[in-house]
Amino acid sequence: MRRPLVVGNWKMNLLRHEAVALAQRVAEWAAAHAEPELALCPPFVYLEAVGQVLRDTRVALGAQNLYPQSGGAFTGEISPAMLADLGCRYVIVGHSERRQLLGETDEFICSKVAAALQAGLQPIVCVGELLSERERGETRAVVTRQLVQALGGLPSEAASRLVLAYEPVWAIGTGRVATAAQAEEVQADLRSTLRSRYNAPAAEEVRILYGGSVKADNAAELLAQPDVDGALVGGASLKADEFLRIAARAAS
Ligand code: PGA
Repeated sequence: MRRPLVVGNWKMNLLRHEAVALAQRVAEWAAAHAEPELALCPPFVYLEAVGQVLRDTRVALGAQNLYPQSGGAFTGEISPAMLADLGCRYVIVGHSERRQLLGETDEFICSKVAAALQAGLQPIVCVGELLSERERGETRAVVTRQLVQALGGLPSEAASRLVLAYEPVWAIGTGRVATAAQAEEVQADLRSTLRSRYNAPAAEEVRILYGGSVKADNAAELLAQPDVDGALVGGASLKADEFLRIAARAAS
């Protein structure tokens, strides 16, 4: 039984007082609702403030990125140990915005996954195809390549600590959501890749989230799919009411 997980990816949004207020609303809701598991990923600079709000609550803290080195002369970067030290449980890795805007490669993403796990963090590994790739019928090949390369030589004990997120690039921030059938098709494929790469029990344990224009009014149908174990929510996670309506759909 995989526990549903709904993650708010705040991206480069909110100021400190807004971040704290939003985290407070989510924590209050979570105090009265045991399910689903919730996590919030604020910008680095608000991890500490949001972490203080979330301490001893049911809401986990996550980061949006990390640098795959334990320390040293990497100006402007943040190590996995720093994130763990701030109380992070999760870290988003391989988001399409970082792949596209910041040139992150599969190889670099692989080193981030390994570094996150080594520091005791759970990476939320994002994969997803461009619209042109979908139109050329390449979705399966693209997401399989991204998944296999992100995992590298990871052993199966570590694989079960991963979270995956299928985020079709054409659905991120566009209001154009994948249909439930499209999400399920790709996510079932991802699980079958995990099954052949590792083994059935490990593949069954990994939660696979859907992300890309998730809103309260489309969440229920997506989350009802057998291989959709939660949601990675961008825009709609910035409004407490909307985010909590999505969370409520994941619990039922
Ligand atoms: P969106 O973003 O919900 O705004 O489409 C999702 C994401 O990028 O994780």
